[in-house]
Amino acid sequence: NTGYTTLDGGFVNTASTKSAITYIDGAEGILRYRGYPIEQLAEKSSFIEVSYLLIYGELPTTEQLDAFTDRIRRHTLLHEDLKRFFDGFPRNAHPMPVVSSAVNALSAYYQDSLDPDDPEQVELSTIRLLAKLPTIAAYAYKKSVGQPFLYPDNSKSYVENFLRMTFGFPAEPYEADPELVKALDMLLILHADHEQNCSTSTVRLVGSSDANLFTSISGGINALWGPLHGGANQAVLEMLYRIQGEGGDSADFLNRVKNKEAGVKLMGFGHRVYKNYDPRAAIVRKTAHSILEKLGSGDELLDIAMKLEEVALNDDYFVERKLYPNVDFYTGLIYRAMGFPERMFTVLFALGRLPGWIAHWQEMHQDPNGKIGRPRQIYTGYTERAYEGIDGRS
Ligand code: SDX
Repeated sequence: NTGYTTLDGGFVNTASTKSAITYIDGAEGILRYRGYPIEQLAEKSSFIEVSYLLIYGELPTTEQLDAFTDRIRRHTLLHEDLKRFFDGFPRNAHPMPVVSSAVNALSAYYQDSLDPDDPEQVELSTIRLLAKLPTIAAYAYKKSVGQPFLYPDNSKSYVENFLRMTFGFPAEPYEADPELVKALDMLLILHADHEQNCSTSTVRLVGSSDANLFTSISGGINALWGPLHGGANQAVLEMLYRIQGEGGDSADFLNRVKNKEAGVKLMGFGHRVYKNYDPRAAIVRKTAHSILEKLGSGDELLDIAMKLEEVALNDDYFVERKLYPNVDFYTGLIYRAMGFPERMFTVLFALGRLPGWIAHWQEMHQDPNGKIGRPRQIYTGYTERAYEGIDGRS
């Protein structure tokens, strides 16, 4: 049941599609972007360079990277009318629907780059998304705290610009802590792609109807919001607060997880593919201590997280089910130490995943079998039956 035979005897595989972008070995805990191990990219590359690699398939030369960076810089502004778009949302709105709506609205403001079959328009919408998503994300945050929006400052790097628009004020200069910039850049690399997960499959499926890139990415942002997917990083913090509030007893919490108590799940653990330690979680765990110490928030919540992990990794219930920490288990602690509220954590995930979504959308369009994804089903309903009406009706 991995697909269906066509009338002329052909076979269409609908269970999985081919891709050359990211390789995952769930049993061995391996993750590679275009063949490069995630550990090496996280340590040596930059998010913009990794974005280029994912989208164009090769690492850029210095000239290509400079040109790419410069093109992105020229598109960081939002249309002035689009800035007013944020006024329509309630202040207490979660930033994810605000961000996905604003991204979808790009289809209305930038109608000269919607044609998925025009390579120049695809390139322009790619650059516009990479450039404008940090601005949209920062504005969603500023809206939620009732503070003025800041225009982008193109003298700054991609991450510095985002941090300044998020945490800066018009009345004074803002200089981001270089450690914070480096840490966030690495976290964005770790989130940049992950094969055909729920949100990436959404982007591919929406785009397969020839819907434009902006609206396809908006669909991906909506799928990412779910707490079983990208929303898990927020749910992990809420879980740690809950354990802290109930006295900080990790062992007791895990017992309730094992007893499958309603609403008690070990968020940030388990994965559809990794049945080993998520290599991204290992990288984040390693740097969590140093980043948290540097940012001066030696954390009771980190202690609770470490204790949860220590107990779970030695408990048969979790070991038998191959439940290990995933990328979301530690990232929220770092985002929180950086000053982001929990509701912004999944927005940060989207910021990181954007180049991966774009790469998959483009790859789907280049695949002659990629268009109009139409997974078949296995019908399990009634066989044919005659209509005889109910209660004498006929
Ligand atoms: C992401 O796909 C991707 O690549 C996603 C992602 C990406 O980069 O795009 O990696 C990002 O989404 C990471 C996952 C974030 N989600 C969470 O942390 C939420 C908590 N995790 C679970 O919801 C769950 O682990 C899933 C949905 C992520 C994966 O489920 P699985 O591994 O396919 O396992 P399952 O749902 O079939 O459950 C198998 C068993 C069950 O026990 P039994 O019914 O057999 O007794 O494991 C149990 C489940 O109850 N289980 C858990 C658990 N996850 C699975 N028990 C407690 N806590 C958990 N977190």
